[in-house]
Amino acid sequence: MMRSGKLLKSGVLACMAAAMLTMATNAAAADKGEISVLNWWTSGSEAKSMGVLQQMMAKEGYKMNNDAVSGGGGTNARTVLKSRLSSDNVPGAAQIKGPEIQQWCEQGVTTNIDAVAKADHWDKLLAPAIAKGMQCGGHWVAVPFDNHRVNWLWINRADIKKVDAQMPQSWDELVSTMKKLKAAGITPIAGGGDTWQIGTEFDALVAGVGGADFYRKAFVDLDKSALDSPTMAKAFEHLRVIKEYSDPNGSGLAWNHDTGMVVKGTAAMQIMGDWAKGEIANDGATPGKEVACVAFPGSQGTFIYNIDSFEMFKVKTASERAAQATFARTAMSPEFQRKFNMVKGSIPVREGTSLTGFDECAKASEHDYKDAAKKNGLVPSMSQDMAEVGAIKGAIFDVVARFYNSDKMTSQEAATELAKQVEQAKQMTQM
Ligand code: BGC
Repeated sequence: MMRSGKLLKSGVLACMAAAMLTMATNAAAADKGEISVLNWWTSGSEAKSMGVLQQMMAKEGYKMNNDAVSGGGGTNARTVLKSRLSSDNVPGAAQIKGPEIQQWCEQGVTTNIDAVAKADHWDKLLAPAIAKGMQCGGHWVAVPFDNHRVNWLWINRADIKKVDAQMPQSWDELVSTMKKLKAAGITPIAGGGDTWQIGTEFDALVAGVGGADFYRKAFVDLDKSALDSPTMAKAFEHLRVIKEYSDPNGSGLAWNHDTGMVVKGTAAMQIMGDWAKGEIANDGATPGKEVACVAFPGSQGTFIYNIDSFEMFKVKTASERAAQATFARTAMSPEFQRKFNMVKGSIPVREGTSLTGFDECAKASEHDYKDAAKKNGLVPSMSQDMAEVGAIKGAIFDVVARFYNSDKMTSQEAATELAKQVEQAKQMTQM
């Protein structure tokens, strides 16, 4: 009795101490200023990752409001950004990637973080192409958080073992593995229906069929002869096969729900970027162990990169500007780069950050990233807005979704339509 009474008392005291500490932290957090951070990180692992930043900001005396809007890929968050800008409710930072960074900056609504970037020598800490992407008109306007690889296949090992299949390294092996799984009553591929997820799958398929040079020609250069080509038609053909083996009830399910299916083994595989790895760990599995990571078959030498970054918007007060500077400095710090990326599933974007303690898939990702960099295998992700502005990506997604949803369209027709729609979108964006 005595003992449990004492324990109870010490437990109550510990709770009170913790509550007082939280209150003190909150008071300190409110002290120096606040920043509103608009983003689309609402899954379990994504929210946890943002928690890392909130805590580090609080330690510096700043309150970070995590304004997360659900919707993989950020379509909804983009709409909210536009409405907040037009109603004078400007966020201090918003999740914006790729060429959209320059688009927003050219509208004159962003602000620069040159002082922080220069003082902390970001130009020496980031790969040149990534550093360039964070700037506009010679000024740093955005801060990068991570480096995600898009072309991964996540595989429940137990499911594969159950049907005596192999870890697929080539397209043919993948098809044979999917066949065996389906015959055994296991859903081969989680996902199916959500346009953003199909677009993400298509990224991996195009790299798998055509390799980095073809991918670049099609999605970076928007070369008509690559878009409307037998290679692109083959990528569409493969997408149809993937559909055939995808969850028939997958329509409308979120990507993280689908990752959960792979962790449980109710579906065997998912084609998804390594933010899925964050969810795998969040669901209690070890990436690389119960759920294996394999570069999407055929795309081994290609690293489709997706760099999450936050762009700074013009805020009104000095304390808000100070909060922006702290936000940017903290995000690029070695401590944040390790803690955040461990939870998020990505690898640190800050070069030279140690991966000690990261899981084996993160280590494989870094290895493949370096290897691809040497062999011209790095390509910016079309599906994750790294390669093109929204209007062009939208045109590509539209054709991919139409093809996915209509079995009447042939793969060659889809490739021809892709080239046509991209051309029209290009003309619209130049108007
Ligand atoms: C982002 C990832 C995010 C994923 C799903 C991607 O576009 O780059 O950071 O986890 O969407 O929300």
